[in-house]
Amino acid sequence: MMRAQLIGVGAYLPPQRVDNAMLAERLDTNDEWIRQRTGIAARRIAAPEQLTSDLATEAARAALKNAGIDAAALDRIIVATTTPDRTFPATAALVQAKIGAANAAAFDIQAVCSGFLYGLSLVEALIQSGQAKTVLLIGAETMTRLLDWTDRGTAILFGDGAGAFVFKAGQGDAGILATRIHSDGRHAGELTTDGGASQGTIGTLRMNGKEVFRHAVQNLSDVAMETCAAAGLPLNAVDWLVPHQANARIIEQVAQRVGIPAEKIIVTVSEHGNTSAASVPLAFAEAWYDGRIKPGQVVLCEAMGGGFTWGGCVLRI
Ligand code: UT7
Repeated sequence: MMRAQLIGVGAYLPPQRVDNAMLAERLDTNDEWIRQRTGIAARRIAAPEQLTSDLATEAARAALKNAGIDAAALDRIIVATTTPDRTFPATAALVQAKIGAANAAAFDIQAVCSGFLYGLSLVEALIQSGQAKTVLLIGAETMTRLLDWTDRGTAILFGDGAGAFVFKAGQGDAGILATRIHSDGRHAGELTTDGGASQGTIGTLRMNGKEVFRHAVQNLSDVAMETCAAAGLPLNAVDWLVPHQANARIIEQVAQRVGIPAEKIIVTVSEHGNTSAASVPLAFAEAWYDGRIKPGQVVLCEAMGGGFTWGGCVLRI
């Protein structure tokens, strides 16, 4: 059976780092509250001229270099984003032009913070079915452009960035072993924007934090167990959990429920904040490049976001 095998990883964070104290200068908040309630110390914010496709392109170039392949080898480029440069064309098409991937079909997917997990599910299907052989999957966001900077309940949470994976079809034990994705649109109003292209606006992010938190802990615990079962592996076979980086307390509560010890969890929320679809590949990239993630290991990724949407992926490196 053909599997989607991970051959390269890339990441990009814009240089401007905004810590909690800087936010407290313009919002009624403080470093202690933000750290205690979310685990976030700082986030990166894209420069005004930097668009999502710019962040995505940097991450894509790094992933292609890491994979040691030319952009011309790609037959699909998928960008998971909620913050496209333009309403159309797809941000993936803009990335395609910038990296010179002339042989790829390029398109975006949108499942907010779960976008990268939805992408992993799609990559698995495209490669297993033989429709694609070499796929670039990017999670890229400029979430700070959707924020209401007067709302302390949301303005402190989000950051900008991009992460990218390159997959190649291959045989053997390595590759995506299982993916599971879910959504429940009855909760659309709990985490949303108050506008959109069809309404003639971009909209501003609105969230019922407590409800999102409650559902996140339940759904992420369930999908972690479900995805491991689908891969035919017990949870103690997982070498690394790479969770969505939204809130350190969500990460801790999910880990406790499913029985994954803290030393097996990659946590970057303190420096990245919540970068939505970029959060899982950004966290993954940190552990990939510092050598924690090694060949042969089993990695469980999971995310949850607006929709609600949520998903899990088990892959062997
Ligand atoms: O990818 C999925 C995206 N989102 C998430 O995963 C977020 C999930 N939710 C959360 O992370 C948490 O609900 C928050 C961090 C957003 C909020 O934490 P909380 O413990 O649920 O706080 P709360 O909203 O219940 O607010 C508690 C208090 C309130 O004050 P009162 O009414 O008790 O006087 C808030 O006004 O904390 C206040 N508060 C703040 N205080 C200082 C809310 N935000 C802040 C703030 N600084 N930034």
